[in-house]
Parts: sequence; structure tokens; C-alpha cells
Amino acid sequence: MSLFNYTVSKTIMHVPKPIVSHFAKGYIAGPTLADAVQVTRDLNQQGMMTTIDILGEFITGFDQAVSFKNDALTILQTIEREKLDANLSIKPTQMGLLLDKEKCFGLIHEIVSEAVKFDNFVRIDMEDIETTDDTLEFFRKLREEFSGHVGTVLQSYLRRTPFDISDLNDGVQNYRLCKGIYVEPRTHAWKNPHAINRNFTECLKRLFDQGAYVGIATHDELLIFEAMNLIHKLGLQPDQYEFQMLLGVDEEMRGIILKNGHRLRIYVPFGEDWLPYSKRRLKENPTIAQHALKQILGINKH
Ligand code: FDA
Repeated sequence: MSLFNYTVSKTIMHVPKPIVSHFAKGYIAGPTLADAVQVTRDLNQQGMMTTIDILGEFITGFDQAVSFKNDALTILQTIEREKLDANLSIKPTQMGLLLDKEKCFGLIHEIVSEAVKFDNFVRIDMEDIETTDDTLEFFRKLREEFSGHVGTVLQSYLRRTPFDISDLNDGVQNYRLCKGIYVEPRTHAWKNPHAINRNFTECLKRLFDQGAYVGIATHDELLIFEAMNLIHKLGLQPDQYEFQMLLGVDEEMRGIILKNGHRLRIYVPFGEDWLPYSKRRLKENPTIAQHALKQILGINKH
């Protein structure tokens, strides 16, 4: 990692808002649901599905959670009305998990009930380690009632994930598998990138063995290669899994996945509250900040 990239990843929380805003544009559909609808329509036309996410997390009052729940219902209704090939992703802390667990479950229950009306699907994103047990507990309860309409996320950086996969093998299984984006202590998370990758492939194998539907969420070429090999070896059909990527990342790889006959879903975030999401993306890939900074400073312009 270059000195610039190292510095960005260590100091990202202090990068001025205008710089983050400059690079964030590609990662976010825009401030409104209409923006997410437009981006989804474009991606649908190119043969991709989406999952729509309204930005905002770690709220301070339960009225904000209720407001996000109402937004989530509107997204589901809009997907239905506009006939989009899209589903919904939500974050438990956005629905008040850290304020009132029972009330939070009530809101998520209402959202999944709405998705069932439209034969749609809700993915409960996974956040930091403080929320893992509660998120898996919510998923367990909801899949009992709304089988096939709800799923959650497993993170391959967590040491616990292989055990969670075994524990969850007593009901309908639908997961997004990703590396994990939060900064967790080494006591909970693998830090070595090779260990995270090997755990990813191991977990994917176990999930397929258990008959799970998996959203394979990565841009890592090696992991995509290994997933494709596994799919081929097991003779899986395209409706037994999907690949997933973030909006704004590696469009060339999108084409490769589609051309190989796999289904691909793009994560489409929208909303005013773009700063924390964008900072996580920037921390993930400081090279982007380098490009943005050079543009802003007029470096490389001749
Ligand atoms: P890695 O970070 O090694 O990236 C591989 C390559 O992809 C990089 O070399 C770079 O070229 C490119 N790349 C990756 N990120 C980029 C970026 N931001 N900008 C430009 N290029 C980039 N995490 C979580 O904890 N909970 C969750 O619910 C989710 N949900 C989720 C949904 C979807 C659809 C995706 C794709 C990812 C998530 N994540 C997530 C994030 C995930 O955990 C992980 O942090 C990122 O996907 C980056 O990891 P990769 O597997 O892409 O590998």
C-alpha cells in the first residue's frame, strides 16, 4: 500500500466532506428514490437485478427508525408499481436495533410482511459484531413466518461464521456472503486477507452443501473465479445463487459474470445520508480518493 493510501485509510474519518462527496457520486444512485428507480431501470435493461438500500444507520431517536421503516415500505411499493427487478436491503440499526430491540423487530416484521404482499424479498444487512447475534435471531424468527421472502448476510472475516452456518442449518437458508466491512477486533475477526478469502470459499462450499441460496457478494477476482468453479463442479442452476456487486465498482467484471451465464444483482444505495457509507467505500479503496484529490487539485491536468 502506498504512503498516500495508507494515510487515507488511517485518517479517512477526517477527510473533508467535499472530497468524499466528489468521489462518492459513482457509488450512490443520488439523493432520492427516483434516482434509485432510474439506476435500477438502466441496470435491469442491461440484464442485472438490483437491491435498493436507503442510506442511514446508527440513529439517535426511534422516530427516525419509524421514518426509515415508512421509506422501506415506499421502496417496496415503488418497485411493484414500476415493475422493477429489484428487492430491498435494510440495516437493523437504521430500524432502531440499538435503541429498542423488540420495537426494532416489529418494524422489520412490518417491512417483510409488505414484501410478502408483492412476492418480493428483504435482505437484512449485517453490521458490526455488536449486532450479529440479534440480526441472526431476527432472521431465524422471520424465516419461520415468511419463508423465501427474507435473508441475511454472513461475513467471512468473522471467526464465528462457519459455526453460524452449521447452527442455521435447520430452516430455509438465504444468505449474502461477503468479506465484511466493519473494523472488528482480532479476537472476533481474521485480519490476514488470505484467511478471510479461504474462509469465504470454505463458507460458500458449506452453504451450497447445505442447499442454501447464496448471493456471492465480492469484487475479488480470485473469489469470483473460485465461486464459478464451485458452481460448475456442483452443477448448480442459475436460479440457485446470484453474484452481487456494489454500484460503481468494476463494471468490466459485471460483463464477465453476465457473459458466463450467471445472474448478477447490484447494490444500489440512495439518500441524503451518504457520508458514512461513502467513507467505508473510500477506506476500502483509497486509490479512488487519490484520483479524486488529484482532480480537485488539478494535478495531472495538462
Ligand atoms: P476486496 O476489498 O479485496 O476488493 C477486491 C477488488 O475489488 C479490489 O482490488 C478493487 O479492485 C475492487 N473494489 C473493492 N471495493 C471497491 C470500492 N469500494 N471501490 C472500487 N473498487 C473496489 N459488508 C458487510 O459487512 N455487511 C453487509 O451487509 C455488506 N453488504 C454488501 C453487499 C454487496 C452487494 C457487496 C458487494 C458488498 C457488501 N459488503 C457488506 C461489503 C463487503 O463486506 C466488502 O467489504 C466489499 O465487498 C469489498 O470486498 P471484496 O470482496 O470486493 O474484496
